[in-house]
Amino acid sequence: MTVTNETLKIIKQRRSIRSFKDEQIREEELQAVLEAGLYAPNAGDQAWHFTVVQNKELLDRLNLAAKEAATQLDIEHLKQMGNNEGFNCLYGAPTLIIVSGDERSPVPLDADCAAATQNLLLAAESIGLGSCWIFFVLLAFYSQQGSELRKELKIPEGYRPYSSAVLGYKKAAVVNVQERKPNLITYIR
Ligand SMILES: Cc1cc2nc3c(=O)[nH]c(=O)nc-3n(C[C@H](O)[C@H](O)[C@H](O)COP(=O)(O)O)c2cc1C
Repeated sequence: MTVTNETLKIIKQRRSIRSFKDEQIREEELQAVLEAGLYAPNAGDQAWHFTVVQNKELLDRLNLAAKEAATQLDIEHLKQMGNNEGFNCLYGAPTLIIVSGDERSPVPLDADCAAATQNLLLAAESIGLGSCWIFFVLLAFYSQQGSELRKELKIPEGYRPYSSAVLGYKKAAVVNVQERKPNLITYIR
């Protein structure tokens, strides 16, 4: 008999959402998602920091700064995204959470921040919110406005933004879920 439960269903059901309603998520929903992030496994003894951005003007500036930085890269598809006027790397989501890690930590913080980010996404799905992991917006910190943006976002000194996620109410239902690839598991028994 197949084993299943609510958690397993949510894990399978979660997909990246790239189209959001303008309406802001409720504060209780935000807090539930953040709490899930804080309970992720971590090697650095919670040496992370979560930055919630819900200011539309700042979200727009982050998008533009990230796109500007992308145009300077030698990676063709990122350059194209940067030059695409119609592309918004945050997909119009009303909430962005940036997960940063303390660079002074003796253990690398990228895995901790990734684990926290996955918790954010799963928690979001479990309460009916749409979400998407966003690497692209982090390019903003490597743009000309990078250090100013870090200050405005109050990212603590010595912390590096490793990952981020957008949240919002889904505009459209998910279609075309990719089949899982076969032969990705080896059993030694
Ligand atoms: C490290 C990482 C970075 C990602 N960055 C982006 C991004 O910048 N923009 C985006 O639209 N999706 C981004 N994604 C989402 C992936 O494109 C998505 O998870 C993948 O296509 C699988 O689709 P699913 O999430 O619907 O299962 C990222 C995912 C990961 C794990």
